[in-house]
Amino acid sequence: MRGLLTLKDLSTDKIKELIQYALKLKKGFRISYPDKKIATLFFENSTRTHYSFQCALMNLGIKVIDFNSSSSSIAKGESLYDTVRTFEALGVDGVVIRHTKEKYYEDLKNIQIPIFNGGDGKADHPTQSLLDLMTIYEEYGHFEGLKCCIVGDISHSRVAHGNIEIMQRLGMEVYISGPEEFNDHCAEWIPLDEACRTMDIIMLLRVQFERHQEKMKISVEEYHKKYGMTYERMKMMKEKAIIMHPAPINRGVEIADEVAECEKSRIYKQMTNGVYVRMAVISDVLDGNL
Ligand code: CP
Repeated sequence: MRGLLTLKDLSTDKIKELIQYALKLKKGFRISYPDKKIATLFFENSTRTHYSFQCALMNLGIKVIDFNSSSSSIAKGESLYDTVRTFEALGVDGVVIRHTKEKYYEDLKNIQIPIFNGGDGKADHPTQSLLDLMTIYEEYGHFEGLKCCIVGDISHSRVAHGNIEIMQRLGMEVYISGPEEFNDHCAEWIPLDEACRTMDIIMLLRVQFERHQEKMKISVEEYHKKYGMTYERMKMMKEKAIIMHPAPINRGVEIADEVAECEKSRIYKQMTNGVYVRMAVISDVLDGNL
């Protein structure tokens, strides 16, 4: 299958090359594909990924077809495969897909046009991982030896699962923290205060209430006090350490309002970088390099 489905398919050299390409695009390098059309198919809510992909496509001079799942023939029983096969038959040159189903792309093996994964259930979110890595690289200029703690609703997070695998491959030390009920033991767990004192990167996650089968065991107020990035915890962090979050953010839950845009926060920079990594991925795929 063509496109980008998971970073597990890419070597660390290829990932570093994509980050360098995104940095070049951020510095002003331009490339254009005016004859191409790409459709964005979002079957799950999104602000950043959906519109960041659209900005990336527009910056590359590509025509964007925005699929509206609620007014489509899905209500008449059309499958994901038949929807994507239809876009292929219409002459579209690629599709961006976000879907609630993990590895939805395994149902699309007969599709010949590139598929760009905008997130599959709680499994993976490859362009989010790339933009996180680009932001870390811009900060430190390397990955090896950096210490990152991912904090919060780990078990429901595609960002955590995707990032842990690739960060470890790039030589980073990755830890997790947060409530035991969200600990799926995908990395070593450490207390949050210890993480704040020792990490280079604290990556916060939203509590994904919409994916929970059972009500969270503690209140949001208690969550914020025990596991949130409060002003006091931000002050414990090393001088050059940074705070990241894939967003959407819940101010007052996993992050205090006053910390969300503080000097250490790279949350909005991550969003900006998302446009450039998506441009890099789309361009590389259309050029046949990915
Ligand atoms: N970070 C992220 O994937 O945000 P959206 O759900 O708004 O796309």
